Amino acid sequence: MLKRNSNHLKNIEEGFQFVCKLDELKDKVGRRFIVDEVEIAIFKIESEVFAVSNICPHQQTHLIYDGFIEDEFVTCPAHGWKFNLRTGKKDSGSIGLDSYLVQIYEDRVFIKVYPKKYGW
Ligand code: FES
Repeated sequence: MLKRNSNHLKNIEEGFQFVCKLDELKDKVGRRFIVDEVEIAIFKIESEVFAVSNICPHQQTHLIYDGFIEDEFVTCPAHGWKFNLRTGKKDSGSIGLDSYLVQIYEDRVFIKVYPKKYGW
Protein backbone atom coordinates (compact mmCIF):
# COMPACT_ATOMS: atom_id res chain seq x y z
CA MET A 1 0.00 0.00 0.00
CA LEU A 2 1.35 3.39 -0.96
CA LYS A 3 2.02 5.61 2.04
CA ARG A 4 1.11 9.24 1.47
CA ASN A 5 3.04 10.83 4.28
CA SER A 6 6.15 11.49 2.20
CA ASN A 7 6.73 14.78 0.41
CA HIS A 8 8.46 12.79 -2.32
CA LEU A 9 5.15 11.20 -3.27
CA LYS A 10 2.97 14.29 -3.27
CA ASN A 11 2.98 14.42 -7.08
CA ILE A 12 1.69 10.87 -7.44
CA GLU A 13 -2.04 10.73 -8.04
CA GLU A 14 -4.30 8.85 -5.68
CA GLY A 15 -4.50 5.12 -6.34
CA PHE A 16 -1.09 4.70 -7.97
CA GLN A 17 1.26 2.23 -6.35
CA PHE A 18 5.02 1.88 -6.56
CA VAL A 19 6.14 -1.23 -8.45
CA CYS A 20 9.82 -0.80 -9.27
CA LYS A 21 12.57 1.62 -10.16
CA LEU A 22 12.86 2.57 -13.81
CA ASP A 23 16.38 1.18 -14.09
CA GLU A 24 15.07 -2.24 -13.03
CA LEU A 25 13.27 -2.49 -16.38
CA LYS A 26 15.23 -3.48 -19.48
CA ASP A 27 14.17 -2.14 -22.83
CA LYS A 28 11.60 -4.46 -24.48
CA VAL A 29 11.95 -7.10 -21.74
CA GLY A 30 8.81 -7.63 -19.70
CA ARG A 31 8.53 -8.10 -15.97
CA ARG A 32 5.69 -9.56 -13.94
CA PHE A 33 4.29 -7.95 -10.81
CA ILE A 34 1.29 -8.49 -8.59
CA VAL A 35 -0.37 -5.28 -7.38
CA ASP A 36 -3.42 -5.56 -5.15
CA GLU A 37 -3.84 -9.18 -6.29
CA VAL A 38 -3.86 -8.08 -9.96
CA GLU A 39 -1.18 -9.75 -12.05
CA ILE A 40 0.39 -7.30 -14.46
CA ALA A 41 3.12 -7.29 -17.10
CA ILE A 42 5.25 -4.18 -17.44
CA PHE A 43 7.32 -3.21 -20.46
CA LYS A 44 9.69 -0.33 -21.06
CA ILE A 45 10.07 0.75 -24.66
CA GLU A 46 12.65 3.49 -24.94
CA SER A 47 11.42 6.16 -22.49
CA GLU A 48 7.84 4.89 -22.11
CA VAL A 49 6.46 2.30 -19.72
CA PHE A 50 3.36 0.23 -20.39
CA ALA A 51 1.36 -1.95 -18.00
CA VAL A 52 -1.16 -4.58 -19.07
CA SER A 53 -2.73 -7.69 -17.62
CA ASN A 54 -0.31 -10.62 -17.56
CA ILE A 55 -3.12 -13.08 -18.31
CA CYS A 56 -3.82 -13.77 -21.97
CA PRO A 57 -7.53 -13.80 -22.86
CA HIS A 58 -7.00 -16.71 -25.28
CA GLN A 59 -6.28 -19.57 -22.86
CA GLN A 60 -5.58 -17.61 -19.68
CA THR A 61 -1.85 -18.36 -19.64
CA HIS A 62 0.19 -16.08 -17.36
CA LEU A 63 2.87 -15.41 -19.94
CA ILE A 64 2.32 -11.95 -21.41
CA TYR A 65 5.40 -10.63 -19.53
CA ASP A 66 7.49 -13.09 -21.57
CA GLY A 67 6.06 -11.92 -24.89
CA PHE A 68 7.95 -10.64 -27.89
CA ILE A 69 7.88 -6.86 -28.37
CA GLU A 70 7.64 -5.23 -31.76
CA ASP A 71 6.74 -1.55 -32.09
CA GLU A 72 4.08 -1.05 -29.41
CA PHE A 73 2.74 -4.62 -29.57
CA VAL A 74 3.39 -7.67 -27.41
CA THR A 75 2.94 -11.15 -28.84
CA CYS A 76 1.81 -13.84 -26.40
CA PRO A 77 4.47 -16.59 -26.44
CA ALA A 78 1.86 -19.35 -26.13
CA HIS A 79 0.03 -19.05 -29.46
CA GLY A 80 0.96 -15.72 -30.95
CA TRP A 81 -1.98 -13.46 -30.19
CA LYS A 82 -0.80 -9.90 -30.51
CA PHE A 83 -1.86 -6.96 -28.32
CA ASN A 84 -1.33 -3.22 -28.47
CA LEU A 85 0.47 -2.20 -25.28
CA ARG A 86 -1.08 1.26 -25.27
CA THR A 87 -4.71 0.10 -25.48
CA GLY A 88 -4.51 -3.59 -24.58
CA LYS A 89 -6.58 -4.40 -27.66
CA LYS A 90 -5.77 -7.19 -30.09
CA ASP A 91 -4.08 -6.17 -33.33
CA SER A 92 -7.45 -6.71 -35.01
CA GLY A 93 -8.85 -3.99 -32.71
CA SER A 94 -11.05 -6.32 -30.71
CA ILE A 95 -11.00 -6.56 -26.93
CA GLY A 96 -7.80 -7.92 -25.43
CA LEU A 97 -5.76 -7.26 -22.30
CA ASP A 98 -6.68 -4.84 -19.56
CA SER A 99 -4.29 -1.91 -19.64
CA TYR A 100 -3.31 0.20 -16.65
CA LEU A 101 -2.25 3.78 -16.09
CA VAL A 102 1.44 4.39 -15.46
CA GLN A 103 3.18 7.32 -13.78
CA ILE A 104 6.92 7.78 -13.57
CA TYR A 105 8.21 10.00 -10.81
CA GLU A 106 11.85 10.46 -9.82
CA ASP A 107 12.86 7.32 -11.76
CA ARG A 108 10.24 5.23 -10.01
CA VAL A 109 7.34 3.50 -11.71
CA PHE A 110 3.83 3.69 -10.26
CA ILE A 111 0.82 1.77 -11.60
CA LYS A 112 -2.89 2.18 -11.00
CA VAL A 113 -4.68 -1.15 -11.20
CA TYR A 114 -8.35 -2.06 -11.08
CA PRO A 115 -9.88 -5.47 -10.49
CA LYS A 116 -10.19 -7.77 -13.50
CA LYS A 117 -13.47 -7.43 -15.38
CA TYR A 118 -14.07 -10.94 -16.60
CA GLY A 119 -15.50 -10.85 -20.08
CA TRP A 120 -14.57 -14.23 -21.47
S1 FES B 1 -2.67 -18.17 -24.49
FE1 FES B 1 -1.98 -16.33 -25.40
S2 FES B 1 -2.24 -16.68 -27.49
FE2 FES B 1 -2.94 -18.49 -26.59
